[in-house]
Amino acid sequence: MKKIVIAAVAKNGVIGRSNGDMPWHSKTEFQHFKSTTLGSPVVMGRISFESLGSPLKNRLNIVLTKNNMELKDRFPDIIVFDKLNKVYSWCEYQKYEKIFLIGGGSLFPVFMKDADEMIISIMDFNAEGDIYFPDIDVNIWKINSRDKRDGFEILYYLRQEKK
Ligand SMILES: NC(=O)c1ccc[n+]([C@@H]2O[C@H](COP(=O)([O-])OP(=O)(O)OC[C@H]3O[C@@H](n4cnc5c(N)ncnc54)[C@H](OP(=O)(O)O)[C@@H]3O)[C@@H](O)[C@H]2O)c1
Repeated sequence: MKKIVIAAVAKNGVIGRSNGDMPWHSKTEFQHFKSTTLGSPVVMGRISFESLGSPLKNRLNIVLTKNNMELKDRFPDIIVFDKLNKVYSWCEYQKYEKIFLIGGGSLFPVFMKDADEMIISIMDFNAEGDIYFPDIDVNIWKINSRDKRDGFEILYYLRQEKK
């Protein structure tokens, strides 16, 4: 099962704000996110999930939380786990070919240790915020291809080193 980090990162590394808000709204970037992730499980932290307002459609939403397991009562269609290794074993058991690790700030550093691939949209602008994407270790991650779109560029990274 492939584990794929997907994120949108401003030129200055910002990905979000600690009140949960996304600092920008890019329809075209969200369209890329949507078409890439449709049909596959998306794994996220509780704050990112709550900032969405409602579960992402046509994808299994898997939410990580230690203190808010009752989220499941409010959103019966989501799956809630309190540990990341439980997410991986459950998804392996379900025989998913790939899962997307979609954020947020507290989880990207952990997700990056486990991921096989990363799909990172670099936005054409700086953004105001206090949550940043972690540094990408060039000894571990190599850009396999890039795709320039209107307002952002998508970098496709492959892991070079064994985990
Ligand atoms: N630009 C992008 O691509 C992108 C993508 C996603 C999110 N974002 C932005 O990122 C921000 C949110 O990031 P954040 O760091 O504040 O929050 P987050 O990572 O989305 O969620 C943090 C919460 O997840 C749970 N959690 C974290 N690690 C865990 C673990 N190992 N096991 C179990 N539960 C765990 C905890 O929930 P409990 O407190 O409930 O226990 C924790 O409070 C927002 O501004 C959002 O808009 C940006």
